[in-house]
Amino acid sequence: MELMSVNQHQLLSKIATGDGHGENSPYFDGWKAYENDPFHPTKNPNGVIQMGLAENQLASDLVQHWLTNNPGASICTPEGVRAFKAIANFQDYHGLPEFRKAVAKFMARTRGNRVTFDPDRIVMSGGATGAHEVTAFCLADPGDAFLVPTPYYAGFDRDLRWRTGVELVPVICESGNDFKLTRKALEEAFEKAEKDKIKIKGLLITNPSNPLGTMMDRETLRIVVSFINEKQIHLVSDEIYAGTVFGEPGFTSIAEIIEQERDIECDRDLIHIVYSLSKDMGFPGFRVGIIYSYNDAVVNCARKMSSFGLVSTQTQYLIASMLSDDEFVEGYLEGSAKRLGKRYEVFCRGLAQVGIKCLASNAGLFLWMDLRRLLKNATFEAEMELWRLIIQQVKINISPGSSFHCSEPGWFRVCYANMDDRTVEVSLARMHNFVHQNTQTKKSCNYRNLRLSFSSRRLDDFMLSPHSPFPQSPLVKAST
Ligand SMILES: Cc1ncc(COP(=O)(O)O)c(C=O)c1O
Repeated sequence: MELMSVNQHQLLSKIATGDGHGENSPYFDGWKAYENDPFHPTKNPNGVIQMGLAENQLASDLVQHWLTNNPGASICTPEGVRAFKAIANFQDYHGLPEFRKAVAKFMARTRGNRVTFDPDRIVMSGGATGAHEVTAFCLADPGDAFLVPTPYYAGFDRDLRWRTGVELVPVICESGNDFKLTRKALEEAFEKAEKDKIKIKGLLITNPSNPLGTMMDRETLRIVVSFINEKQIHLVSDEIYAGTVFGEPGFTSIAEIIEQERDIECDRDLIHIVYSLSKDMGFPGFRVGIIYSYNDAVVNCARKMSSFGLVSTQTQYLIASMLSDDEFVEGYLEGSAKRLGKRYEVFCRGLAQVGIKCLASNAGLFLWMDLRRLLKNATFEAEMELWRLIIQQVKINISPGSSFHCSEPGWFRVCYANMDDRTVEVSLARMHNFVHQNTQTKKSCNYRNLRLSFSSRRLDDFMLSPHSPFPQSPLVKAST
């Protein structure tokens, strides 16, 4: 069936009939492949494993435990029902004062309490998705653009661009220096935009990074602040993964730079933080997004705009109670980081056993996996071919680097915090099997450039796994 008939084009708006939504990407296609054939350990053991979704489910038992012990926080319980009427009736777009206070405190805690946040600057929105759009609406006009270092979160193409008419201009970061952002890359992107007559209104960074899982060091953040001040453009710092850091070096927020690094010039009116509870707390369904701007006019405008995407007062009430519980917050953040770190190690080690390297990282819910050696050639077509092979035959949905605008083919993002230990084993077994088959095929074809080392004992374990999806080499299959 044709999706959009000629008639629809006449009946509907350009937004409704166009494809500016940015969802025509393998990033979203992979999700569909999973939905059509989802893995289940007993009901569908050969189904697709979802490793394309940055969800934090590793510490959800800690939240459940808190909820059980605090039934009054959910106002639809006998213990909480007395608060129901007042909460259900409240509709001020400033949000519940206790909610803003608790979120400001939590934001400080996830930044090591080295900075404080003013509850009166907390503006809520429908997740970070809504926060980005509102911020873009406040800072730029249709046709204006934001610089964004690559690789970057695929959803930005939708969130910042679709309804606002704002454009994104990539700042190319490369594997040679572990994708670190440099002054040179910023200057080059800015100059190119100027030549192309594109008006740059801001720079959008994601720190810690999705998809890299790495963090910007203090020096890089100083470069960023100097750069935006010199160019007189805005800085939006997406810090949605602030609480997922599980190792050293720790996280440095842009808030710390502007508070502590007094020797560099900084116009605070240019600085805005986007935050959300989707990743740090594992609550993407609650749609708690935050815009924290140091610019009063932006706070005012964003607050009015937040009418279009408020967080329900029931959720605000619950979050206020939960995040005000210091003991719980400490235990949760520590427990979550510990589990994320452990999972990261398991995956890295498992992949290393078959010679797959990942970018060293210590935050986020994913690995940035280097499969360049498995590409037939160094092109994005070859990357897509490999991605299709992995999704169709290895039955793992990972996301290709091209969907994050990575400038080099062969990198893939692998999410690891949305599954249980057993599924981890199955997914690693499948990857081992895949690499083994691939290596055999290449050896028999006299390929010399792929030298993978792996422990044969571990591999034999995996080869005997009942979950092996391959009757024969997937690469042989793919080329037929
Ligand atoms: C960097 C980044 N920003 C924003 C979002 C959107 O988050 P939310 O679920 O809060 O809308 C995501 C989600 O994956 C993300 O990774």
